[in-house]
Amino acid sequence: MKFAIALLGGASLAFGQTFSSYKNSQGITFWQANFGTRVAASIPNAQFGLALPPASATSLNDEYIGHLAVPIPSSGTWMGIAHASQMPDNLLLLTWLNGNKVMTDFRYATDYLTPAEYTGNAKLTVLSSSVNSTFYELTYRCEHCWTWNQTGQVAGSQLPKAGGNQIVGWAEATTTPTNPSVQTAGIVQHYADGLFGVAVDSARNSAYTSWTALGASPTSVTTTATSSKPTGSVTSSSKPTSSASATSSAAAVAPSCTSGTAASSLGSWDYVVVGGGAGGIPLAAKLTNTGKKVLLIERGNPSSGRQGGQLKPTWLQGTNLTQFDVPGLCNEIYVSSAGITCPDYGVLAGCILGGGTAVNAGLWWKPHPKDFAAFPSGWQSSDMQAAISRVFAKIPFTEVPSSDGQFYQMQAYGVLGNILGRNGWGAVTAGNTPEQKTLNYGHAENMFSHGERGGPMATYLVDAMAKNNFKLILNTMVDRITRTGGTATGVTVEGAYCGNITLNAGGKVILSAGAFGSPKVLFRSGIGPADQLTIVQAAEPGAMIASSQWIDLPVGKSLQDHAQTDIVWTQSSIQNYDFNAAFTNPIASDTQAYLSKRAGILTEAAPVFPIFAWHEVTGPDGIARQIQWQVRNGPSHGISSSNGITQTQYLGRGSTSRGRTTINSALNMVVSTVPYYQDPNDLAAAQTSMSIMLGLMKQDSSINMQYPASGTNVSAFYAQYPVTTGSRSANHWVSSCKMGTDSGLNGGTAVVDPNLKVYGTNNIYVLDASIIPEICSANPSALIVSLAERASDIL
Ligand SMILES: Cc1cc2nc3c(=O)[nH]c(=O)nc-3n(C[C@H](O)[C@H](O)[C@H](O)COP(=O)(O)OP(=O)(O)OC[C@H]3O[C@@H](n4cnc5c(N)ncnc54)[C@H](O)[C@@H]3O)c2cc1C
Ligand SMILES: *[C@@H]1O[C@H](CO)[C@@H](O)[C@H](O)[C@H]1NC(C)=O
Ligand SMILES: *[C@@H]1O[C@H](CO)[C@@H](O)[C@H](O)[C@H]1NC(C)=O
Ligand SMILES: *[C@@H]1O[C@H](CO)[C@@H](O)[C@H](O)[C@H]1NC(C)=O
Ligand SMILES: *[C@@H]1O[C@H](CO)[C@@H](O)[C@H](O)[C@H]1NC(C)=O
Ligand SMILES: *[C@@H]1O[C@H](CO)[C@@H](O)[C@H](O)[C@H]1NC(C)=O
Repeated sequence: MKFAIALLGGASLAFGQTFSSYKNSQGITFWQANFGTRVAASIPNAQFGLALPPASATSLNDEYIGHLAVPIPSSGTWMGIAHASQMPDNLLLLTWLNGNKVMTDFRYATDYLTPAEYTGNAKLTVLSSSVNSTFYELTYRCEHCWTWNQTGQVAGSQLPKAGGNQIVGWAEATTTPTNPSVQTAGIVQHYADGLFGVAVDSARNSAYTSWTALGASPTSVTTTATSSKPTGSVTSSSKPTSSASATSSAAAVAPSCTSGTAASSLGSWDYVVVGGGAGGIPLAAKLTNTGKKVLLIERGNPSSGRQGGQLKPTWLQGTNLTQFDVPGLCNEIYVSSAGITCPDYGVLAGCILGGGTAVNAGLWWKPHPKDFAAFPSGWQSSDMQAAISRVFAKIPFTEVPSSDGQFYQMQAYGVLGNILGRNGWGAVTAGNTPEQKTLNYGHAENMFSHGERGGPMATYLVDAMAKNNFKLILNTMVDRITRTGGTATGVTVEGAYCGNITLNAGGKVILSAGAFGSPKVLFRSGIGPADQLTIVQAAEPGAMIASSQWIDLPVGKSLQDHAQTDIVWTQSSIQNYDFNAAFTNPIASDTQAYLSKRAGILTEAAPVFPIFAWHEVTGPDGIARQIQWQVRNGPSHGISSSNGITQTQYLGRGSTSRGRTTINSALNMVVSTVPYYQDPNDLAAAQTSMSIMLGLMKQDSSINMQYPASGTNVSAFYAQYPVTTGSRSANHWVSSCKMGTDSGLNGGTAVVDPNLKVYGTNNIYVLDASIIPEICSANPSALIVSLAERASDIL
């Protein structure tokens, strides 16, 4: 479920709907709008009505009676209501059909991803509901619904105010939830969304109190938010059910293996690599050179057509390509993410073969030498150069992915590049001079090859598949490591394979499940802070290793990400391309150029990244911070224009702020402490860089600064910009299993030692983004692949 981001920047809002008074058959009078949800080509309008108590009834000020009539597209549906202007950090009411029954559940999300169960005290009472072939209808009383409080997370309030508009968001999907019969039914992202501003005074009614009595009838159904239930976020029948959804009661037990092939049929292995992403694929591939037996376990489906992926628009049918192979379709995950992104994380990550390298924009930067400064010895820049050379020999960067040698819709390179050049910033080919990252600018560099995504799946994985000592298994989730003391004996899996996979004597388990996946497996294996292991113990008591065997390490505690801040501008020469239409309703000449020659705009990563700029800014504490300006075509923050640019400031290397990822009772991974601007020195450096950039851009009168408004005070701009993952995440999560010499066993910050071995264990290793000790200079995938190349020398 992903509601509009439109209001994030406080942009002005035009409410299109017309409200009028509507009295239902029970006599309740609503202030109601009919509104088009656009979820099918020809579909009747939906209805949303609100009734509020009189202002004098102060004890009822935290409730309302709602009315929903939801048109049902043939593909199925659900509708969600958000009790504020955006999806994250507010109370969500989810409604859907189970046969002829209208189901409801409260949810809560800290980001634009699958919400978790709401754990606060909201209460829903159904006053009436009905279903016919085209609609479902629900009238409900919602108590404790304008203020909310998700345990340990943000509290919010939007109690109705006299004279004001009550802002309510809606979202409707074109798919039925999975497991629709349970309250924790899994949902995939909605298709359409919008906002209402409901005039508070018009919705108030002195008869309200009498209507609440309707809820006492024997037919009413009451729902309260629950804290103990799993989210059941299964997103496709071919995916493994996450154990969060499999453990439907407190009596959780190890998977019964009634489905899936017995894992014991796989035999035993020298290396078990968990996760086929940026780290896992190259590492597993390189380990085959030892001649030992290597098993790579991936929880998701194949993505690229090369490994049998299937997801594609009509125009790719009959080709060897999927949506993942075509750079211009990389944004499709923001339209439909079912079976692609990880349903059990609060932030965005790829849970499909290739991991981030299947879903990302393919930006591919040779690591800045300074990115290794925080690594222990053996991993310094000089130690890394051989590995980096091997990576870039196998996967070179390109600035011109189109086979005709042309750039497409790069106008902003000229506009911004001219200003920067005039002011002494140097144009660079970043991959040739990775150390030139201050007062420089250049083109995007991508891992694309022959106009296709390319990357690790097209190179390392192809090499590995040709080896008979290598096996890849898909749709199989590693739940935990089986171990005796510090020695792993194997892994427990569920999905396509189910049960235990064993290690040969001297064998190694390597976690490459990503910055959230690797901590999750460690927590479920009894490795991590005691507060986290206690949560897992309660959630799956039958499966968790005895507490006497727990290994106390600071897993999850050093989390970092680039902190991003957008500015939005328009300029008449800029052209924006409709990449969403390229999926459903493409321009024939563009698909033709792509299919026949791998040429044209569809070889560029959507939405086109015309220019990057880099600047090192020293904070008041004397520490230099790396800024990357990442410019993309298309406006955001509620601005609509076909000449728009979103220019994002990434605050990276040198940042001292750290966050934390934790697990909840549904075994979902959440960012419980956001890592952005905890240290005022980080904020100061970001603001300095922003002031400089805005000052430069003012020199060009053809640029119309839309967000923030021209002349905005920079510190005030940062002060109003939400510091949440939804607003600030660059999806570049690192450091949740930090590598270092300061062992976490003795109060230090490190989870793995310089040989990648988890402290306190004999044969459990981590190799992925999570080991990176400090957020890097640029988008991290090439750095992670380089670490995998280096790791293959050590493991
Ligand atoms: C939308 C998006 C855009 C991005 N754009 C760029 C970009 O353009 N350039 C760039 O350099 N970086 C980009 N990044 C970041 C980059 O892709 C990631 O940093 C990188 O992929 C992380 O590598 P990893 O190996 O740590 O994890 P991942 O690549 O995420 O791989 C982890 C893998 O493990 C699997 N897995 C997880 N848990 C289990 C389990 N229990 N059992 C079995 N398998 C499991 C997952 O399905 C996944 O395949 C982007 C990220 C996202 C999400
Ligand atoms: C189905 O229900 C909707 C909403 O209550 C109503 O508008 C519509 O007329 C009903 N259709 C039929 C065929 O009864
Ligand atoms: C939120 O709930 C927690 C526990 O459920 C409580 O300790 C805290 O005081 C509440 N915060 C607010 C602002 O209501
Ligand atoms: C598709 O086929 C072309 C032509 O044989 C080949 O070059 C390309 O690598 C293939 N791509 C995938 C994703 O299989
Ligand atoms: C897997 O191993 C664990 C730990 O040794 C054991 O408790 C469990 O029963 C095993 N599961 C199966 C299906 O063999
Ligand atoms: C900018 O706003 C801050 C408060 O956020 C204020 O302290 C400062 O004086 C303002 N600066 C200017 C130049 O107005």
